[in-house]
Amino acid sequence: MCGIIGYIGKRNAVPVLLYGLQRLEYRGYDSAGIAVVDNENGKILIEKQVGKIKDLQEHLWGRNINGHLGLGHTRWATHGSPTVENAHPHISQGGKFAIVHNGIIENYMELKKYLQEKGYKFKSETDTEVIAHLLEDEYNGNLLDTALKVAKKLEGAYAVGIISTEEPDKIIAIKKGSPLIIGLGKEENFIASDIPAVLEYTKDFIVLEDGEVALITEDNVEVYNLEGQKVQKKPLHVTWDVSVAEKGGYKHFMQKEIHEQPRTIGDTLAGFSSSKNEELFDMLKDINRLYIIACGTSFHAGLVGKFWIEKFARIPVEVDYASEYRYRDRIIDEKTAVLGISQSGETADTRFALLDAKKEGAKTIGLVNVVGSSLSRESDYVLYTYCGPEIGVAATKTFTAQLVTLLLFALEAGLKRETISKEEYDKIHEALLHIPSKVEEILKKDDEIKDIAYKYMNATDFLFLGRNINYPIALEGALKLKEISYIHAEGYPAGEMKHGPIALIDEKLPVVSVIPKDRFYEKMFSNVQEVKARKGKVISVATQDDEKIKELSEDVIYIPQTEDILYPILTVIPLQMLSYHIATLLGKDVDQPRNLAKTVTVE
Ligand code: AGP
Ligand code: GLU
Repeated sequence: MCGIIGYIGKRNAVPVLLYGLQRLEYRGYDSAGIAVVDNENGKILIEKQVGKIKDLQEHLWGRNINGHLGLGHTRWATHGSPTVENAHPHISQGGKFAIVHNGIIENYMELKKYLQEKGYKFKSETDTEVIAHLLEDEYNGNLLDTALKVAKKLEGAYAVGIISTEEPDKIIAIKKGSPLIIGLGKEENFIASDIPAVLEYTKDFIVLEDGEVALITEDNVEVYNLEGQKVQKKPLHVTWDVSVAEKGGYKHFMQKEIHEQPRTIGDTLAGFSSSKNEELFDMLKDINRLYIIACGTSFHAGLVGKFWIEKFARIPVEVDYASEYRYRDRIIDEKTAVLGISQSGETADTRFALLDAKKEGAKTIGLVNVVGSSLSRESDYVLYTYCGPEIGVAATKTFTAQLVTLLLFALEAGLKRETISKEEYDKIHEALLHIPSKVEEILKKDDEIKDIAYKYMNATDFLFLGRNINYPIALEGALKLKEISYIHAEGYPAGEMKHGPIALIDEKLPVVSVIPKDRFYEKMFSNVQEVKARKGKVISVATQDDEKIKELSEDVIYIPQTEDILYPILTVIPLQMLSYHIATLLGKDVDQPRNLAKTVTVE
């Protein structure tokens, strides 16, 4: 949450900052602001606006601000409401230090009291402002040295960018807990919360680790630890194209990302095969318990993964919300592995839960999309999804790529543990190779699904039902709908409905039933019948040629036939499309739904 950007170089910083902020807007959009050291008078000029980057852009329209050094911020408020006063950048009392911050300063109350007693006046309610005043208070003629001193006083998780009129030829970046990268240009350098923010200008990066402080000038970058010792960093080169972070003709990132899935599934299949992680699968030979921890959509992928891993690798799996797992009395020994799933690799709940389990002796595996993210570096073993950046706040393409990776993981582990035969492995592998073209077929039903969305868009509640491996898909369908359309939705295992939720059903309730032709079809059919008997409006996601389901359904969305255990990768696609269309028909901002942020770096 919160996006940070910084620029030092020959260009005017303002457009670079605004462009980067647009790319980072998915991380938060309560307010936005920039600070530049004005070329004319050498003073720090700050401009902020409540709302989105476009509001800041409108506010700056026609203004001639010029500076070669600057910081920008897009906020997801944790401390203090979204007001101009609370918007970043924050400036020190004397106007000499400007900072942007992502994260939470946990001891800000005591630092604030200390500073207030020394006469510092606070303008905002944020935890952040203490950093600006502390810098001024501690300044000893050396910005790096001062920043190191200040960093030692801060508790919590943070990424901070600092500029100063005292030393206007540098940016200082501090990272502890929240992500921060340095983009390496020619006679210019950048800082940002993620890579796509500056992909327009460079493909070479330094990824900062926790407890590192960088001194960045126009033509040099030095990284230190908190003790002030130099750290050698190996730059990372990415091959992503700028277009991955653009809408490419689609109306929304979410729509583009839904439609990218044939490719991202294919790339993930290819990526997994070409990066065979022998050590990981050797390790899994001796494991007798696996915990999967994740949040939101990644958690739902974990729930599906459990079915596959137990089936093929015969490892008992427990799936838990990372925020819950962290504080429970889990049982860990040397034969325990913990798999953290996270698109961003920065979700605080998932990272910290995984780190705790690691301390207790668990082998840790990260399944992430963002290369070089914290979770990928903190895990003993790492698996990637190969999706490129996902910008829409609602996860879509990364979910199906997580599913594919989990299935391949289960199959590989099964082979190593000798719990599946090579024939079975090959059969599923072969079926998987046809999944991208089947997804393509579903995507062609866009207009049909839009018509269904139109019929139900005014419903106030939705129920999603599924059984077995498609039950987590019902949960995911409900999450997608509620997060982007703000319609209340629940996902339930269909067999559990009779134990309570069936009381909700009446002629106004749309019930989405995920009912592919698998071995649970008849059971699921009976459950749908129960809904129909109570006049619920059934929308079925069913396998093509299933004529019988029409008897019970108002609407049917057909998907191609596949192996039973592969259905979740297909059944989720119409649910993503349905939520997308309902939300856009309702005029909602699907890429940036209210109250949410793409990456949640607070607990
Ligand atoms: C998905 O649509 C959500 N916006 C959210 O639940 C997300 O999946 C969750 O915050 C986890 O994020 P991560 O995968 O980056 O860890
Ligand atoms: N805590 C800071 C604020 O509320 C930064 C928030 C964040 O990074 O999410 O302004």
